[in-house]
Amino acid sequence: MATERTLSIIKPDAVAKNAIGDIIARFEKAGLRVVAAKMVQLSEEKAGGFYAEHKERPFFKDLVGFMTSGPVVVQVLEGEGAIAKNRDLMGATNPKEAAPGTIRADFAETIDANAVHGSDSAESAEREISYFFGNDEICPR
Ligand code: TYD
Ligand code: MG
Repeated sequence: MATERTLSIIKPDAVAKNAIGDIIARFEKAGLRVVAAKMVQLSEEKAGGFYAEHKERPFFKDLVGFMTSGPVVVQVLEGEGAIAKNRDLMGATNPKEAAPGTIRADFAETIDANAVHGSDSAESAEREISYFFGNDEICPR
Protein backbone atom coordinates (compact mmCIF):
# COMPACT_ATOMS: atom_id res chain seq x y z
CA MET A 1 0.00 0.00 0.00
CA ALA A 2 1.20 3.47 -0.86
CA THR A 3 2.19 6.25 1.49
CA GLU A 4 -0.75 8.65 1.71
CA ARG A 5 -1.70 11.86 3.45
CA THR A 6 -5.04 12.56 5.07
CA LEU A 7 -6.61 15.49 6.91
CA SER A 8 -7.56 14.98 10.54
CA ILE A 9 -9.44 17.45 12.74
CA ILE A 10 -9.74 17.09 16.50
CA LYS A 11 -13.14 18.73 16.98
CA PRO A 12 -14.18 21.26 19.68
CA ASP A 13 -15.69 18.60 22.00
CA ALA A 14 -12.45 16.61 22.17
CA VAL A 15 -10.32 19.75 22.58
CA ALA A 16 -12.62 20.83 25.45
CA LYS A 17 -12.15 17.39 27.07
CA ASN A 18 -8.36 17.90 26.98
CA ALA A 19 -8.03 14.79 24.81
CA ILE A 20 -5.72 16.20 22.11
CA GLY A 21 -2.72 14.20 23.30
CA ASP A 22 -4.66 10.96 23.79
CA ILE A 23 -6.04 11.19 20.26
CA ILE A 24 -2.71 12.03 18.61
CA ALA A 25 -1.11 9.14 20.54
CA ARG A 26 -3.54 6.76 18.81
CA PHE A 27 -2.46 8.02 15.40
CA GLU A 28 1.22 7.67 16.26
CA LYS A 29 0.79 4.20 17.81
CA ALA A 30 -0.91 3.10 14.58
CA GLY A 31 2.11 4.23 12.58
CA LEU A 32 0.76 7.53 11.26
CA ARG A 33 3.06 10.56 11.41
CA VAL A 34 1.92 14.15 12.03
CA VAL A 35 3.47 16.18 9.18
CA ALA A 36 1.50 19.40 9.77
CA ALA A 37 -0.56 20.71 12.69
CA LYS A 38 -2.24 23.85 13.98
CA MET A 39 -4.92 24.92 16.44
CA VAL A 40 -7.51 27.25 14.96
CA GLN A 41 -10.82 28.88 15.84
CA LEU A 42 -12.88 28.33 12.67
CA SER A 43 -15.12 31.10 11.32
CA GLU A 44 -18.60 30.20 10.05
CA GLU A 45 -17.35 30.78 6.52
CA LYS A 46 -14.31 28.51 6.92
CA ALA A 47 -16.31 25.72 8.60
CA GLY A 48 -19.16 26.01 6.06
CA GLY A 49 -16.74 25.85 3.13
CA PHE A 50 -15.03 22.82 4.61
CA TYR A 51 -18.35 20.96 4.88
CA ALA A 52 -19.74 22.32 1.57
CA GLU A 53 -20.71 18.78 0.48
CA HIS A 54 -23.27 18.76 3.32
CA LYS A 55 -24.71 22.23 2.60
CA GLU A 56 -28.22 20.94 1.79
CA ARG A 57 -28.38 18.43 4.67
CA PRO A 58 -30.71 19.17 7.62
CA PHE A 59 -27.81 19.02 10.10
CA PHE A 60 -25.60 21.54 8.23
CA LYS A 61 -26.41 24.59 10.37
CA ASP A 62 -25.85 22.70 13.63
CA LEU A 63 -22.64 21.18 12.23
CA VAL A 64 -21.22 24.62 11.43
CA GLY A 65 -22.39 25.89 14.84
CA PHE A 66 -20.61 23.02 16.56
CA MET A 67 -17.40 23.31 14.54
CA THR A 68 -17.18 27.03 15.42
CA SER A 69 -18.04 26.52 19.12
CA GLY A 70 -14.38 26.34 20.16
CA PRO A 71 -10.89 25.75 18.82
CA VAL A 72 -10.00 22.69 16.75
CA VAL A 73 -6.66 21.01 16.02
CA VAL A 74 -6.13 20.43 12.30
CA GLN A 75 -3.44 17.99 11.22
CA VAL A 76 -2.06 16.23 8.19
CA LEU A 77 -1.31 12.57 8.92
CA GLU A 78 1.07 10.62 6.69
CA GLY A 79 1.65 6.87 6.42
CA GLU A 80 0.86 3.64 4.63
CA GLY A 81 -2.82 3.70 3.67
CA ALA A 82 -3.29 6.76 5.90
CA ILE A 83 -6.80 7.61 4.67
CA ALA A 84 -8.41 4.26 5.50
CA LYS A 85 -6.24 3.74 8.58
CA ASN A 86 -7.43 7.05 10.06
CA ARG A 87 -11.08 6.21 9.29
CA ASP A 88 -10.60 2.83 11.03
CA LEU A 89 -9.08 4.49 14.10
CA MET A 90 -11.96 7.03 14.19
CA GLY A 91 -14.84 4.54 14.09
CA ALA A 92 -18.35 5.09 12.75
CA THR A 93 -19.81 8.60 12.39
CA ASN A 94 -22.36 7.83 15.13
CA PRO A 95 -20.36 7.05 18.30
CA LYS A 96 -23.18 4.75 19.43
CA GLU A 97 -22.36 2.55 16.41
CA ALA A 98 -18.58 2.94 16.61
CA ALA A 99 -16.55 -0.22 17.32
CA PRO A 100 -15.09 -0.56 20.83
CA GLY A 101 -11.62 0.95 21.09
CA THR A 102 -12.14 3.49 18.32
CA ILE A 103 -11.67 7.20 18.98
CA ARG A 104 -15.36 8.00 18.58
CA ALA A 105 -16.41 5.12 20.85
CA ASP A 106 -14.02 6.29 23.54
CA PHE A 107 -14.25 10.09 23.31
CA ALA A 108 -17.70 10.94 21.88
CA GLU A 109 -21.33 10.37 22.85
CA THR A 110 -23.39 11.91 20.07
CA ILE A 111 -23.30 12.03 16.27
CA ASP A 112 -23.19 15.83 16.18
CA ALA A 113 -20.21 16.11 18.55
CA ASN A 114 -18.12 13.14 17.49
CA ALA A 115 -14.55 14.12 18.41
CA VAL A 116 -12.75 13.80 15.06
CA HIS A 117 -12.91 14.38 11.33
CA GLY A 118 -11.00 12.34 8.76
CA SER A 119 -10.87 12.58 4.98
CA ASP A 120 -12.95 9.82 3.36
CA SER A 121 -11.13 9.44 0.00
CA ALA A 122 -7.97 10.45 -1.84
CA GLU A 123 -9.90 13.22 -3.57
CA SER A 124 -11.28 14.69 -0.34
CA ALA A 125 -7.89 14.35 1.36
CA GLU A 126 -6.28 16.45 -1.36
CA ARG A 127 -8.99 19.11 -1.20
CA GLU A 128 -9.11 19.20 2.60
CA ILE A 129 -5.33 19.36 3.09
CA SER A 130 -5.01 22.31 0.70
CA TYR A 131 -8.05 23.95 2.36
CA PHE A 132 -6.01 24.29 5.57
CA PHE A 133 -2.31 24.05 4.69
CA GLY A 134 0.06 25.50 2.14
CA ASN A 135 2.82 23.24 0.85
CA ASP A 136 5.36 25.17 2.93
CA GLU A 137 3.44 24.24 6.11
CA ILE A 138 3.76 20.47 5.56
CA CYS A 139 6.96 18.78 6.73
CA PRO A 140 7.57 15.36 5.11
CA ARG A 141 9.32 12.97 7.53
P1 TYD B 1 -20.22 12.67 7.42
O1 TYD B 1 -19.25 13.18 6.39
O2 TYD B 1 -21.40 11.87 6.93
O3 TYD B 1 -19.49 11.80 8.53
P2 TYD B 1 -17.92 11.61 8.86
O4 TYD B 1 -17.52 12.73 9.79
O5 TYD B 1 -17.85 10.27 9.55
O6 TYD B 1 -17.18 11.63 7.56
O7 TYD B 1 -20.81 13.91 8.23
C1 TYD B 1 -20.00 14.98 8.63
C2 TYD B 1 -20.35 15.37 10.04
O8 TYD B 1 -21.69 15.87 10.08
C3 TYD B 1 -20.34 14.23 11.05
O9 TYD B 1 -19.04 13.95 11.53
C4 TYD B 1 -21.26 14.76 12.11
C5 TYD B 1 -22.29 15.55 11.33
N1 TYD B 1 -23.51 14.76 11.11
C6 TYD B 1 -24.61 15.01 11.91
O10 TYD B 1 -24.55 15.86 12.83
N2 TYD B 1 -25.76 14.27 11.73
C7 TYD B 1 -25.85 13.32 10.74
O11 TYD B 1 -26.90 12.68 10.62
C8 TYD B 1 -24.69 13.08 9.91
C9 TYD B 1 -24.75 12.04 8.83
C10 TYD B 1 -23.56 13.82 10.13
MG1 MG C 1 -17.25 12.89 5.96
